[in-house]
Amino acid sequence: MVPAELAAWMQQCQARIEVVLDGLLTPTAAQPALLHEAMRYAVLGGGKRMRPLLAYAAGEAAGAAAGQVDAPAAAVELIHVYSLVHDDLPCMDDDTLRRGKPTVHVRYDEPTALLVGDALQSLAFQVLVQARLDAGVRVDLVEHLAVAAGSRGMAGGQAVDLAAQGRILDLTELEFMHSHKTGALIRAAVLMGARCGAPLAPEALRGLDRFAAFAGLAFQVVDDVLDATASTATLGKTAGKDADDSKPTYVSVLGVEGARRLAAGMLDEALGALAPLGDTGGRLATLGRYIVNREF
Ligand code: IPE
Ligand code: IPE
Ligand code: MG
Ligand code: MG
Ligand code: MG
Repeated sequence: MVPAELAAWMQQCQARIEVVLDGLLTPTAAQPALLHEAMRYAVLGGGKRMRPLLAYAAGEAAGAAAGQVDAPAAAVELIHVYSLVHDDLPCMDDDTLRRGKPTVHVRYDEPTALLVGDALQSLAFQVLVQARLDAGVRVDLVEHLAVAAGSRGMAGGQAVDLAAQGRILDLTELEFMHSHKTGALIRAAVLMGARCGAPLAPEALRGLDRFAAFAGLAFQVVDDVLDATASTATLGKTAGKDADDSKPTYVSVLGVEGARRLAAGMLDEALGALAPLGDTGGRLATLGRYIVNREF
């Protein structure tokens, strides 16, 4: 059960980011209408918005108002959605269901899904560059997101994932794959949110970064567990897909209970890392617990 206060705050942020994303996406009337419609289909009306939530919470920890965090929160979600659209393509995970709806290449077609991803990636950086934030902050946000999305981050992790299909990975290799394909963007969401506020003391910033790294890795460990334990209806994506596709995951290596224990240990590390932030890290701590205990 999500605590009532957290649930209310999450709903408020989810409603907020929906409006922000809606305003950033080009209206369907603009040409090429099909591409703009497909971009809106991919982005709007679904998803937990975990990365924006983390950005807002980290911003809060650094004293930033939500309005200062809207742009980075949206940008990281746009990159995340692009990664999902491409992840679902037949040449990658070949999935037909995402966020409870047909995947973009099923609803539209493969070339459109490819272009939706391309255009969302560009839009993410456009949003950061055009944000009403100091130029120095905007440069840092662009750098965080570029590194996290690229070959040393998400795209690199996805390459490892594809190469690993049908193989057995050891824990070091698994950690590399997961911390890149999923952890990097989650870490970026936290650091970008914090960058919008007042500068943090070095110790607090190091703690925040450690929290973000553990939370990002734990997020994918739990994704692996849910793939093996939750239903398609609950997940809004096809359950049991990792085993069907012979994907090495924390569940295939450690079993469901082993993976759950590992995620719980990562949560402890993540929460411990927040100590230098004191009370200001409270919201991040509750989100960390949510990431590990979530049901979808
Ligand atoms: C799914 O991410 C893909 C991963 C990187 C694990 P989410 O579980 O955050 O998916 P949405 O955004 O809520 O749909
Ligand atoms: C996704 O990992 C990582 C991304 C960068 C999109 P998965 O392939 O496990 O994500 P789901 O389970 O399809 O959401
Ligand atoms: Mg995948
Ligand atoms: Mg997938
Ligand atoms: Mg998965």
